Amino acid sequence: MNRESRHIERERGGELTARYITNDGAIESGRLLIGLKNVFSKCLPNMPKEYICRLLFERRHKSVVIVRQPGNQVIGGITYRTFPGTPAARLGEIAFCAVAQTLQVTGYGTRLMNWTKHYAREMDGLEAFLTYADNNAVGYFSKQQFTKAITLEKEKWAGFIKDYDGGTLMECRIHPSLPYADFPGMLSKQRAALEGEVKRYTTGHVVHPGLDHWREGGGPLPVDQLPGVVEAGWTHTAGMLYRTYQIAMGGHILDPTEDNLHEFMAMLLKKAQRHADAAPFLQPVSADDVPDYYSIIIDPMDLGTMEQRLKSRRYYITLNMFAADFYKMVKNCQLYNGSTNPYFLAARRLYDQFWGVMRSSILPSLEAAGIVEPKL
Ligand code: ACO
Repeated sequence: MNRESRHIERERGGELTARYITNDGAIESGRLLIGLKNVFSKCLPNMPKEYICRLLFERRHKSVVIVRQPGNQVIGGITYRTFPGTPAARLGEIAFCAVAQTLQVTGYGTRLMNWTKHYAREMDGLEAFLTYADNNAVGYFSKQQFTKAITLEKEKWAGFIKDYDGGTLMECRIHPSLPYADFPGMLSKQRAALEGEVKRYTTGHVVHPGLDHWREGGGPLPVDQLPGVVEAGWTHTAGMLYRTYQIAMGGHILDPTEDNLHEFMAMLLKKAQRHADAAPFLQPVSADDVPDYYSIIIDPMDLGTMEQRLKSRRYYITLNMFAADFYKMVKNCQLYNGSTNPYFLAARRLYDQFWGVMRSSILPSLEAAGIVEPKL
């Protein structure tokens, strides 16, 4: 929740109230104006108190104050002058603006300005504000949509507003319909409307329950039994169109079905495990034997781990994944030992055998099958 939303909550809870007041002779108005005079006198020390008083109680000046409970205490306010019956009738000149020192920079100034725009439009029919902002308050006014560029026609303000030395003239247009008193509410309605529209055209918000198949220990699941696949237009024939290669194995030319792929990978793995150079690669490297191994190799791999993954029948969905683990094992050996070390030369022989079988077994070619042979 942002600062303004928190203040709105406090308003709803009765802790804060924004009041529009003029010197209408009512005791309550006089009390609030005096409270506001005290805030201005403390926060604007360069302004003579008499001058503040004169403007606050002068009837063409309107004030918007924020009152805090308990104690009915004025904690900030803005006073602006109106020019009824003149060419500047739609203009307000902000004379003073301040928030009690201990409460500054906690969002009250923003809330106050939004209420001031609201009341200026609703009570006085204003369309714009001008103000001479103290140089140290230019940043605050900029954040309240005031600009140094003055776009109002000169005849509608020149000669009406008071010139101040040492201030920067700034302008702010008051929008005819924006809900200044409830910006966060407007934004959340806009967001809800936008999200509603997005939901009409997308399904990203739909959460499916997930598949029970594997939770219940099921094995491979045929593609056409995956919910949504057939509904999305998949057919067995279409699926076969994606078959881009075949496997030569045991004197047969086979499609890369799950069973055939598994058998092919098992054959490749067995060949590697039976290779004369396989011994150092059959099991993970022992940290007892090679204490610094795991501080250098962060992603280890070995033929035993590959065998477990293969046996699970869930890990190596594609030949590329299988080949990637084999590559990782050999590359780790190269990284740890260097390219001329006997261990690496042994690993290299395993690697050459592996890819030799791959090249002669995958038809029409590794390239056509989308299988990449990584270079060491
Ligand atoms: N300079 C630069 N940025 C400021 C200043 C400042 N003096 N004061 C507030 N801001 C920024 C805040 O950091 C905040 O930015 P964010 O939204 O990116 O976080 C934004 O303005 C709004 O801040 P609020 O907390 O809503 O404003 P605050 O409650 O502090 O009220 C005010 C601002 C009225 C200027 C207050 O600081 C104050 O009373 N200052 C002393 C009196 C003063 O200088 N009044 C203006 C004189 S000019 C004139 O009256 C015409």
